[in-house]
Amino acid sequence: MSGTPSTPARPADGGDAAAPKSFRTPIGTHDLAPPESSRWVALLGAFIAAADRAGFGYLQTPIFEDIGVFARIGEGTDVVGKEMYEFFDRSDRHLALRPECTASVCRAFAQHRPTTPWKVWYQGPFFRYEAPQAGRYRQFHQIGAETLGTDDPDADVEIIALATEFFRAIGLQRVPLLVNSMGDADTRAAYGEALSTYLQRRIGDVDPQDQDKIEHHPLRILDSKRAATAAVAAEAPRIIDHLSAATAAHFERVREGLDALGIEHDVEHKLVRGLDYYTRTTFEFRAASLDAAQDTICGGGRYNGLVEALGGPPTPGIGFALGIERLLLACDAEGVFDVPAQRAEVWVIDTAGGAAARDLTHELRSVGIRADRAFDDRSMRAQMRAADRSGAEIALIVGSDEVDAGTVTVRPLRRPDGGEADIAQQTVPRAELLGALRRIFDELNAEGGT
Ligand code: HAM
Repeated sequence: MSGTPSTPARPADGGDAAAPKSFRTPIGTHDLAPPESSRWVALLGAFIAAADRAGFGYLQTPIFEDIGVFARIGEGTDVVGKEMYEFFDRSDRHLALRPECTASVCRAFAQHRPTTPWKVWYQGPFFRYEAPQAGRYRQFHQIGAETLGTDDPDADVEIIALATEFFRAIGLQRVPLLVNSMGDADTRAAYGEALSTYLQRRIGDVDPQDQDKIEHHPLRILDSKRAATAAVAAEAPRIIDHLSAATAAHFERVREGLDALGIEHDVEHKLVRGLDYYTRTTFEFRAASLDAAQDTICGGGRYNGLVEALGGPPTPGIGFALGIERLLLACDAEGVFDVPAQRAEVWVIDTAGGAAARDLTHELRSVGIRADRAFDDRSMRAQMRAADRSGAEIALIVGSDEVDAGTVTVRPLRRPDGGEADIAQQTVPRAELLGALRRIFDELNAEGGT
């Protein structure tokens, strides 16, 4: 056996040949398979359309980065301090699986120095070693958007409007928007002091499990879900009362912009977010239909110092990320965005050896028709059942008679709305098949009243 405590032995591949080992997805991760995957594809499509209309281009960054990139999220945050998947590669580089994308976007900006404003969107898997539960996973998926290079409050409004447009497009309604301002570095320092003083005075009322945060992360007290702590937080000094004139004006202009666009929102004084890089605007959309512990489906804000902290020029930025899994849970809870699985339009039944099914499906697909077939030379009955299950509107039947005569039998199965087709089957010469198909599709549509 090989292996030392610092380099654990790898399990032998294959193991006992008589009893192959079976594997499951690691805890907190999931396979995404049809038909659920159709919803993801449609969801991405809806976001791409909204991002495209608003002038955002797609950015893809690596799944892993130098761990230093993510350290800038805040050493004291749970995301960095407790939940990061970090590892050394074979050349001893200290890397981490990305827990979020904003730091990577800023790293990319500092590396490539694009012209500003740089408006990008992203999507993909992210990794946090969290206790898995509904709406909280170790590999989860985000869609996000960021605007770098402008401090204009209208850019904040544009980013928030992009998220609301997307929710509207997928039909999600019960997602109230909460906003706050974290001020600038000076504000945070002054506020931190005021908050600490207050919390020290109330330490006896804070839940014992939260008391150690008072010294090191007083802001974290504000988003504690524990009842005793929340009661203390409700009476805490408000950051908004410590804003400088410039940051207060910025916040005012953002709120004005949201009002002008008809985007309803409430100020939530305790909204400080779990990552350290935020300055000025912060916001969250919380799904009213989800459990309070996992109800934030989208979070974001400004991070005016992050590019600089990653070695770039001073560059303001604003953005958001939304969790796809949570978003879909909220869609389920509201009964919206139910995407039907893709189905074939035409099913080819071939009882003469399969060559016709091979060639016809290919030909139909090449002219834009969704066509499919069964494999393995199944019986006529089995192929008919497969055609029925597929939901296809038309079956094409090729047996030895059709092969000899150079024809195809076209059998209408159902209308596009699922109703029964009332059109007789017909046998047409192979060369006239496409024309016949188009005619029958039209008739089926007309029957269904569409
Ligand atoms: P975040 O609040 O850490 O912010 O994550 C954004 C969203 O990702 C959350 O609201 C949630 O929907 C989803 N999410 C986070 N962790 C998990 C998890 N373990 N399982 C399932 N979903 C999860 C950020 O990541 C910032 N980068 C957002 C941002 C962009 N700020 C400025 N620009």
